[in-house]
Amino acid sequence: MTSEKPCVVHSLTELRIELQKLRNQGKRIAFVPTMGALHAGHMSLIELAKGEEVAVVCSIFVNPTQFTDSKDLENYPRTENKDILMLEQYGCDLIYIPVMDEIYPDDHEGITIAYHGLDSVMEGTSRPGHFNGVVEVVYRLFQLVQPDMACFGEKDFQQLAIIREMVKQHELPINIIPCPIIREQNGLAMSSRNTRLTEAQRKDAELLYETLTELKDLKDLMNPDELAEWGRNRIRQSGKCELEYLEVADSATLSPMYRWHESTSARAFVAVRFGEVRLIDNMEVHP
Ligand code: PAF
Repeated sequence: MTSEKPCVVHSLTELRIELQKLRNQGKRIAFVPTMGALHAGHMSLIELAKGEEVAVVCSIFVNPTQFTDSKDLENYPRTENKDILMLEQYGCDLIYIPVMDEIYPDDHEGITIAYHGLDSVMEGTSRPGHFNGVVEVVYRLFQLVQPDMACFGEKDFQQLAIIREMVKQHELPINIIPCPIIREQNGLAMSSRNTRLTEAQRKDAELLYETLTELKDLKDLMNPDELAEWGRNRIRQSGKCELEYLEVADSATLSPMYRWHESTSARAFVAVRFGEVRLIDNMEVHP
């Protein structure tokens, strides 16, 4: 941790000036886009991004176009002052908190990508349109920040896969760095939404990590589809939360798997609701 004050900018003009200063110092730009409500998971992205000749730029922007539920957008935690302090402690060099009109100007055209099925499973079916919003904002932020590399957490594994696809299709010269999931002591994957769980729900949410770990332990006894069914039953029978999906899928294509293949990585993905709070998690279960 360091405590040199990062520069906080809101306008595109200020952003360009500060980025140029960093470039003039011979720094490469590592970008960590966020929606704020920062926690140790985000800080691990900053830590991974940091380096001798690297300046870390972090954005805080609660992107309305990726919310499919207006209540979720309304309830999304906003903790800007605390976020800035945390970024300062972790040695972030530049904080960009954009104004809406500069992310989505009137003449904004947006982009499209061919998803090749990556958006037609799991989060894509549970939250239709969500990934269009993510792709749109991340592409726009990439245009404005022009980073050399950008860090994304594996907790949003499907988002990471789609951003990689966007970078490939649009030939963006940006190295996408995946960052492992950071967990609380009870195994709960760190998420901005965890702050909205009650104490009892937070305890019950241990179920996700326990189930994913058990799936990994049991994978030699079942085919992937049987394993997924076992996991769904385990969560439903607990009666602790409402199951949205649990799938065992190919880590590259994200399509459901029916047989293990020696050299194909498979992950278990889960989404549940504790009351109004929606949680997702995933874990590699094979090989
Ligand atoms: O993962 C997130 O926090 C958001 O989806 C992102 C990448 C910052 C885009 O708004």
